[in-house]
Amino acid sequence: MKIAIVEDDINMRKSLEIAMSDYKEFEIQTFKNAKDALKGIDDSFNLVITDINMPGMDGIEFVKTLGGKYEVIIMTGNATLQRAIESIHLGVKDFLLKPFDVDTLINAIKREDKIQKVKKAAPQSSSKNSSSGFLGTSKTLESILKIADKAAKTDASILLLGESGVGKEVFASYIHENSLRAKKPFVAINMAAIPDNLIESELFGFEKGAFTDANEAKAGQFELANGGTLFLDEIGEMPYGVQAKILRALQEKEIRRLGSSKGIKIDIRVISATNANLNDKIKNGEFRNDLYFRLNTIPINIAPLRERKDEILQITQRILEQNCIKYGFDLKKFSDESQKQLLEYNWPGNIRELISVVERAVILSEGYEITPQELFLEHRGLTKKRDIAEMEKELIEEVLISAEGNVEKASKTLGMSKASLEKKIKNYEL
Ligand SMILES: Nc1ncnc2c1ncn2[C@@H]1O[C@H](COP(=O)(O)OP(=O)(O)OP(=O)(O)O)[C@@H](O)[C@H]1O
Ligand SMILES: [Mg+2]
Repeated sequence: MKIAIVEDDINMRKSLEIAMSDYKEFEIQTFKNAKDALKGIDDSFNLVITDINMPGMDGIEFVKTLGGKYEVIIMTGNATLQRAIESIHLGVKDFLLKPFDVDTLINAIKREDKIQKVKKAAPQSSSKNSSSGFLGTSKTLESILKIADKAAKTDASILLLGESGVGKEVFASYIHENSLRAKKPFVAINMAAIPDNLIESELFGFEKGAFTDANEAKAGQFELANGGTLFLDEIGEMPYGVQAKILRALQEKEIRRLGSSKGIKIDIRVISATNANLNDKIKNGEFRNDLYFRLNTIPINIAPLRERKDEILQITQRILEQNCIKYGFDLKKFSDESQKQLLEYNWPGNIRELISVVERAVILSEGYEITPQELFLEHRGLTKKRDIAEMEKELIEEVLISAEGNVEKASKTLGMSKASLEKKIKNYEL
């Protein structure tokens, strides 16, 4: 297995190099920043391990640039929840919180090695994920679907709102399939995935000779979606300049290819989606108010998975079954204790994270029953336990301040013994 390690801290880099040199099966190459890594990493690498906070290009930007071509493990000193969610969105499946000992890293690499071997051995026929549509149900989901069903039958613009990984894309195609346009095209365009300078030609198309590379005329997504549904995904990332043009196209129901003076009539229903806070973006002058109103005729808020807990075990079971078949295992089972953990975890990456955790657990588990340890949720530092610890730390800090550092007084306010408060102060490094 050939592994790239990207780490700006020289001490960390050197000690990883030394520690890893004991493992002949892992061929390591280290890079001191993302730019060097982008130059040095080629198809022969099987795994990329990267820090997040680095000068120049940071780890998240780096992973984005790799474009899903490599499996990635993140190691980071301070995993803010936001960063973790972003990396799940980008397909990262494993995180290591610094400081970690070398064994933790070796184990993570071995897990990745095993996963890649199992995946390679699996028959290629079963396409990526056979999961389309909703794999579970809950009261909350049912009530969102009710709104979606009603909205689907109209031509009104729908704005799908919700955290990363809640299924906005799944909803968008559900709405299309249940609309009067179901037999017409569904065209999805992800604003975050297209370089800013190409968005216009992508959306509106161009005529031959419109710009240097335009050797042939090309229809844009608006035209391709004609008669059907246009799904504008991640609209929070839409460049400001393009927003006015989209608004005009929607209002006039007409577009113009770049380099053409001829208007083309279009008949589309628009569904858009974002996990960004558009109100903030409007306040900051990054998103046009008028476009927001045009897109937001019917807003649909998709609840996060932690508010749809009934779905967790249902989705888990379906993904478990699919993966056992895919990888040729006898049907496995999650132990009671691991089911409990799946229910307790707060899923910042929502259903996307659940699916990836279940798939990994199916591959990595040794026996018939999948144990909590085989879920590998603990070391993410995103579990509920940590949240409670954080809350406790903050509370103790506050009480200590108001007691002016008097531990005895603070312990009375907190209702705990002086000894246990002292222990906690030491643990939390207060
Ligand atoms: N109810 C569900 N049942 C099964 N799988 C689901 C469900 N909802 C979402 N998924 C799956 O979870 C993953 C994430 O869903 P999707 O891409 O729609 O999320 P999203 O809300 O668009 O997230 P983001 O804001 O990060 O783009 C996809 O693989 C999707 O198939
Ligand atoms: Mg999405």
